[in-house]
Amino acid sequence: MTSAAQEHESKAYPPSPEFTATANAGPELQAAADADRLGFWDEQAKRLDWAEPWTEVLDWSNAPFAKWFVGGKLNVAYNCVDRHVEAGNGDRVAIHFEGEPGDSRSLTYNDLLAEVSRAANTFTELGLVAGDRVAIYMPMIPEAIVTMLACARLGLTHSVVFGGFSSSALRSRIDDAQAKLLVTVDGQWRRGQAAPLKNAADEAVADAKSIEHVLVVARTGIDVEWTEGRDLWWHETVEKASPEHEAQPFDSEHPLFILYTSGTTGKPKGIIHSSGGYLTQASYTHHYVFDHKPGKDVYWCTADIGWVTGHSYIVYGPLSNGVTQVVYEGTPNSPNEHRHFEIIEKYGVSIYYTAPTLIRTFMKWGREIPDAHDLSSIRLLGSVGEPINPEAWRWYREVIGADSAPIVDTWWQTETGAIMISPLPGITATKPGSAMAPLPGISAKIVDDEATPLGAGGNGYLVLDQPWPAMLRGIWGDEQRYRETYWSRYAEQGWYFAGDGARYDDDGALWVLGRVDDVMNVSGHRISTSEVESALVSHPSIAEAAVVGAADETTGQGIVAFVILREHVENTGDTLIKELRDHVAVEISPIAKPRQITVVPELPKTRSGKIMRRLLRDVAEGRELGDTSTLVDPAVFDAIRGK
Ligand code: WT7
Repeated sequence: MTSAAQEHESKAYPPSPEFTATANAGPELQAAADADRLGFWDEQAKRLDWAEPWTEVLDWSNAPFAKWFVGGKLNVAYNCVDRHVEAGNGDRVAIHFEGEPGDSRSLTYNDLLAEVSRAANTFTELGLVAGDRVAIYMPMIPEAIVTMLACARLGLTHSVVFGGFSSSALRSRIDDAQAKLLVTVDGQWRRGQAAPLKNAADEAVADAKSIEHVLVVARTGIDVEWTEGRDLWWHETVEKASPEHEAQPFDSEHPLFILYTSGTTGKPKGIIHSSGGYLTQASYTHHYVFDHKPGKDVYWCTADIGWVTGHSYIVYGPLSNGVTQVVYEGTPNSPNEHRHFEIIEKYGVSIYYTAPTLIRTFMKWGREIPDAHDLSSIRLLGSVGEPINPEAWRWYREVIGADSAPIVDTWWQTETGAIMISPLPGITATKPGSAMAPLPGISAKIVDDEATPLGAGGNGYLVLDQPWPAMLRGIWGDEQRYRETYWSRYAEQGWYFAGDGARYDDDGALWVLGRVDDVMNVSGHRISTSEVESALVSHPSIAEAAVVGAADETTGQGIVAFVILREHVENTGDTLIKELRDHVAVEISPIAKPRQITVVPELPKTRSGKIMRRLLRDVAEGRELGDTSTLVDPAVFDAIRGK
């Protein structure tokens, strides 16, 4: 390790005595979990309202398929909405919605209950019953959250597809889950423009056999094509439905949602999450990690509901805790770079949770932008999605957090459902760049290939050696892939393989080092190398493609592709490259567009035909080549470099 890195690790930031004095989490939390882990989760589950109690905290007899709070029954939407109204907090604002064009509205818990009930009544009228799947393809508007909660209320399993995904990405997700209803919008606001979305939804559902209806929120007022009998306007159905609806309880293990995420193959995995265990951990972590004080804090998580962060830390965790939160529709620089700081000032945001890539973007824009605003309401900052570099961490604390707000660097995954490794803000002396330690009730290890736990300084694999309540319950329709992806590497030990490298430092702080598989992390978005490769080779000019993630100052990793043209295809230079980048945007999403595409005569392969991505990464990052001895033809690099 370099001395600079050592220095980074040495300075820790303890919370102020004032913060600690009122913190939700004290040392007793860890003590309770250490004394009796399952008893601890039993207590945490009681933070929720259950219609029927459970008989057993955990049933792991059919590992790796867990059951948590066995036999318990609850309604997730009731826990996120109704119970706050019943407790007398119906007038509390749940959502301060800030539209990109400058419109805003606030929904109280009373409003939210009426809206969710209307949507639930509409879905029931459409013939949907518990267990059916609903696809959601929407921007960050309150109706998206209402739709998710209405599904939860009826036991419909939702599958949110990020509004930035292409129609073909939406189509494959609709088909895989056999969704009956698609909820979408006419268009979405992006940097002052109304960008159509229903056209992509139409393309996706054209002869999709499972889809019965497409429900459309008029967000922008732009013209749309209409299929009579199939398409319905939100304002002609949901808004006219009764605001009364009584929630029924569902089994603790009832599938709440499916969320697709990239794996190491081209086909995304439909990660399944449960109701009782998922909500218990989402609620617990939101309360303690963010030190959330209902009725006092104004919370803002800047994620999109298209990702798991939006599910767990905009919808389910925060609302289960009676949060007052900001929901912002647009981009951070629309109409200019002041937007986030204006919003923080306007609503008095006290807890702000975002991704390192945005923090680095703020750094690039310059501190005079946040400095022009009163950010004194902020008392806690969060980070998620990728390792945060110490420079960005310190800038975040100094410039956004007035050099006093604790930062919680939260490690977790789509699969874990909720935060697993993070500081507790009133207790932990945090180190810039370290996620610090597993939360009370969570157990993790860093091990080598032979499953031997590593001590300080050794780089190893992060594993979760005990089941946890919000853990995924499987991959939709693919039990075998679930077993293979997560449970085969340490099958003998029965550990979950997270796919991340990690290390402990001399003080026992845990450092997550990034993915160890063929998964890239671009601006906190998970994209697999083979997904982008498949998209490239589906273009008629391309014979072969190899994709790697290369270090990128702003986005963490950038996508770098090497392609071989088919015979007789003319290399038209920039024209071809642009065409290929656009093709990837259409096949997957603009977020998957390669930063750089290089046409090469050959790709470096081992004798068994495997592309040596490690060597391509060396090239992409401008390094000296690593070991090339296993290559069939080491000379291919002269050709790649000499382009
Ligand atoms: C992967 C999971 C968790 C919601 C957003 C991403 C990386 C996530 C951290 C962190 C270092 C992190 C890991 C992980 N990651 N948070 N605090 N420090 N790395 O969810 O798309 O499922 O990606 O994101 O590599 O495996 P996801």
